[in-house]
Amino acid sequence: MNVGIDKIGFFTPNYYVDMVELAKARNEDPNKYLIGIGQTEQAVIPPTQDTVTMAANAASQIINDANRKKISLIIFGTETGVDNSKSGAIYLQNLLKLKREARAFEIKQACYGATAGIQMAKDFVKAHPEQQALVIGSDIARYGVATPGEVTQGGGAIAMTIANDPDIMELSSDSSVYSDDIMDFWRPLNKTEAVVDGHYSNDIYQDFFYKTIHNYLDNHDMTLAEFKALVFHLPYTKMGLKGLRKVLPEVSETKQTELLKEFEASRVYSKRVGNLYTGSLYLSLLSLLDNSSDLKANDKVGIFSYGSGAQGEFFVGTLKENFKNGERKLRIKQLLDERTKLSVSEYENMFNQWTNLDPDNFTGDVIDNSEFTFNGIVDEKRQYSTKKLTNS
Ligand code: COA
Repeated sequence: MNVGIDKIGFFTPNYYVDMVELAKARNEDPNKYLIGIGQTEQAVIPPTQDTVTMAANAASQIINDANRKKISLIIFGTETGVDNSKSGAIYLQNLLKLKREARAFEIKQACYGATAGIQMAKDFVKAHPEQQALVIGSDIARYGVATPGEVTQGGGAIAMTIANDPDIMELSSDSSVYSDDIMDFWRPLNKTEAVVDGHYSNDIYQDFFYKTIHNYLDNHDMTLAEFKALVFHLPYTKMGLKGLRKVLPEVSETKQTELLKEFEASRVYSKRVGNLYTGSLYLSLLSLLDNSSDLKANDKVGIFSYGSGAQGEFFVGTLKENFKNGERKLRIKQLLDERTKLSVSEYENMFNQWTNLDPDNFTGDVIDNSEFTFNGIVDEKRQYSTKKLTNS
């Protein structure tokens, strides 16, 4: 059966900080951020957005009345949950007016959550081909002002529908996985910022990539050269490049050039947004679809997912006829180009506003014209509002 990703939507909020300006403010050479880390701009999350509203803003682009009737599984992958009990998926179901006859829940394993959701959704659709699943990766990456991890912050959401006979990509029926108890990155319950051993995390990521891709190739009697492109989880885009460089010597020089070219297409969006945690891999996939000039139907894309702590998974997507979508590409261009640039001090102020949840006093001068916004907390209940419901 032919099951996979039917549609992809993406959202990041309306503010960003420039990486050259941030580097200068931190007394670093801008090329460290631009080349050494591989980031040019970083999303800054206003207090009017949380992981639920970002997910709703991403998903509303791909939800219409036809798939609204079919979506009966809603999986919300995040490591920035808004509640220790209630899942973001239930809020999302209500905001998007999805049908009530559905399973809706949240899933967590660092940046791996959306991949776990996709794999579960794929098996669900195989068992119920007339139904669809909505899978979300929505996160806010926070390390702290003037920390080494600051340059790898960011935030946003990816929403994907998983369906039979999909428009974008058929997913391989199996994958190779590897997990181990590793303290490379974690977010203790009492903290709003992550604890990270970035260099160690880098080593583990590459080790898991090497193990899982080779396990997959061995089990399927395949070679690396059969992939048109490889997409990586991109907490910062240099990390994926390091993964790719680890396996490049296994192919011819011509193939190396081709894989490097496709990698550049896959990191266009992440360079301008930064880290989405659970959504980062799928933003990279979306960037490849929108920005590669050479991809065609039936090309195979190798997909590497990594979630610190740690879980790795490698699987394969085969492109379908309709994987290109000019309207989607234009919408993302507008979303990114029309953002407001913040100075470094404005970014620091917004970053520090994040935990102030008093609805009477928390938006400051934030302008947020997004379809879905978060309006603070009243009586311990999160307040959301909807400007309009598109595609209804
Ligand atoms: N021009 C070009 N490159 C430069 C440079 C310059 N002027 N100055 C430094 N660089 C390069 C370094 O050589 C290094 O490249 P390499 O990684 O290929 O060796 C890179 O920039 C980063 O420099 P480094 O000194 O290692 O940076 P750092 O100690 O400040 O830490 C991270 C960088 C990524 C480890 C840190 O930002 C971090 O921990 N981020 C969080 C990562 C994460 O989220 N991990 C978990 C999720 S999977």
